[in-house]
Amino acid sequence: MLLNAHQTHDTTASVSLDLGRSRAEVLLEAEGVVFPNGQKLSWADIVTIQRDDVGCYAIAEDDTLHKIQQYSDQLDRFCSLMPTEGAPTLLIAGFIMHRIKGIDPYEDTQRKIRAIGTLRGQVLDTSTGLGYTAIAAAQSAEHVITIELDPTVLEIARYNPWSRQLFERPNIEQRIGDSFEQVQVLEDKRFSRIIHDPPAFSLAGELYSGVFYQQLFRVLKPGGRLFHYIGDLSSKSGSGVTRGVVRRLQEAGFVRIKRRPEAFGLVAYAT
Ligand SMILES: C[S@@+](CC[C@H](N)C(=O)[O-])C[C@H]1O[C@@H](n2cnc3c(N)ncnc32)[C@H](O)[C@@H]1O
Repeated sequence: MLLNAHQTHDTTASVSLDLGRSRAEVLLEAEGVVFPNGQKLSWADIVTIQRDDVGCYAIAEDDTLHKIQQYSDQLDRFCSLMPTEGAPTLLIAGFIMHRIKGIDPYEDTQRKIRAIGTLRGQVLDTSTGLGYTAIAAAQSAEHVITIELDPTVLEIARYNPWSRQLFERPNIEQRIGDSFEQVQVLEDKRFSRIIHDPPAFSLAGELYSGVFYQQLFRVLKPGGRLFHYIGDLSSKSGSGVTRGVVRRLQEAGFVRIKRRPEAFGLVAYAT
């Protein structure tokens, strides 16, 4: 879009510099683009950004361009921010962490939240990612504990304008570690709601295990609810995973389990 404007000799253009949250006016000069804060980017850098459909970029203080991508030494994989038509998603080792087909990660998050109902009191979010579910929960909950295995993911989230509230809201408490272990040290019956939005079953099987569900049941108050993201419930793999999840949730003590296909998940009730 900037390249087209430059070719037609426009001298200014209105663009988003924060991944779609707002718009700003930039100057188009012979050498490149000048941003409202005085930072500059060459036309060669603009071409780099335009050619990359799956990368988001940041400009350092010295005007150098870098891709928002980090290598996780701890988990031996790359994490990066990927643009969509709406809020960006997170790529971990090439796997996309939100729904993006016919929906954007923001609406994906809203559906998860609508499925579980009003979020009040203490909320547990087992998988922070870009913090979208934690941020949405924190709008109405008293306190949200959100757990992320990989600190590199949070470094990526720090670049994301859509994740800002994760680091700013006083009622969001971040914990770093494996949810499987972290949940074991949480008090009995502490939470009114749990949002469980793990990576796919094939990537994080222990977060779909009966032992883990027993722990989730233990930390839920009577009358509490769990939203469990699974994936497309009607797909061949999704329906197989769902059958196993429903059985293990029932064995763990959950009494009523409702399918929420629009949110690609299930809601399970503690009583
Ligand atoms: C699907 S994403 C979560 C998206 C998030 N709810 C959001 O709104 O952006 C899954 C996240 O869980 C993290 N994760 C994977 N295994 C985990 C574990 N055992 N404990 C905690 N987090 C884990 C991944 O690093 C990834 O960031």
